[in-house]
Amino acid sequence: GDVGAGEQVFSANCAACHAGGQNVIMPEKTLQKDALTQYLSGGMKEGSVVTQVTNGKNAMPAFGGRLSDDDIANVASYVIDQASGDKW
Ligand code: HEM
Repeated sequence: GDVGAGEQVFSANCAACHAGGQNVIMPEKTLQKDALTQYLSGGMKEGSVVTQVTNGKNAMPAFGGRLSDDDIANVASYVIDQASGDKW
């Protein structure tokens, strides 16, 4: 996916709960490398982010049907780029 396009998707759809890679609802479930490795179903991979964003999980809403497949792929690339590079 396109990391730059994904940053725009993130700002518009994710930052309300995940600004700066944090998590305002479940504070331990950040989008940082350690937390994704520990908590994200399927491990710290773009495909795992795609699944969670598409389907939602607990208090996180599902974005399948609200975002295009391209938007979801791009935001997943952005999240993994940020986490793997310790950019947040
Ligand atoms: C968890 C991404 C939007 C609330 C997560 C995780 C990812 C993620 C990767 C796993 C983090 C971990 O397990 O450490 C995204 C993306 C979003 C988005 C890319 C936008 C497309 C939102 C929004 C909310 C939210 C808008 C609040 C209304 C949560 C919550 C969890 C979570 C509560 C923890 C779920 C659980 O394990 O019970 N998010 N998120 N997310 N997100 Fe989001």
